Amino acid sequence: MATHDMEETGVLETDAVLVRTMRQDDLNVIVAIDAAASGRRRPRYFELMLQRSITQAGLQISLVAELDNRVVGFVIGSLYYGEYGVAEPTASIDAISVDPGVRGKNVGKALMRQLRLNLGALRITTLRTEVSWDDFGLLGFFRSQGFKPSSRICLECALDPTRPDDSAGS
Ligand SMILES: CC(C)(COP(=O)(O)OP(=O)(O)OC[C@H]1O[C@@H](n2cnc3c(N)ncnc32)[C@H](O)[C@@H]1OP(=O)(O)O)[C@@H](O)C(=O)NCCC(=O)NCCS
Repeated sequence: MATHDMEETGVLETDAVLVRTMRQDDLNVIVAIDAAASGRRRPRYFELMLQRSITQAGLQISLVAELDNRVVGFVIGSLYYGEYGVAEPTASIDAISVDPGVRGKNVGKALMRQLRLNLGALRITTLRTEVSWDDFGLLGFFRSQGFKPSSRICLECALDPTRPDDSAGS
């Protein structure tokens, strides 16, 4: 990704943000940041996400960001080495969020910068994520980070458990 035009040589916009590997004791603050963004608390979901990312501890792709010694943002990722028909080593961003009180202060950018460094060290060549088509803020952020629409199309079909034989259009 191109470095921002306004950055001075040797000084990064993200320098004030400390990014480190996620730990199990980050769970509560991650749940709180997510709840502030999404409007719902999902402790069990994040407990499972953290367990999985910490089991892959050597890979260090789930990160938190701190400002003034306080966790203010996180990114949770997964790695795929040839699973699901994906030929290239690929990483996905499963969740990213920054405390609404500190948005626009390069915290998201710092998380992405460190994630990219870690993925580069792992020789990962593609990074994917999914965003709601009308989440323009998140789309704008990912666009600023070099993301474009993928050539793979995400398909889904509504299922009615009471009518398992029914398929749309039949
Ligand atoms: C998207 C998000 C992570 C951005 O974090 P942030 O710390 O505010 O972003 P930064 O200050 O690092 O900005 C980085 C770049 O993204 C751009 N950006 C950030 N928010 C944006 C928005 N809402 N619209 C357009 N662009 C945006 C900035 O302009 C900046 O671009 P630049 O590099 O060209 O200057 C944060 O707004 C957030 O947590 N949103 C909610 C996410 C969410 O709903 N997560 C739940 C599902 S996983």
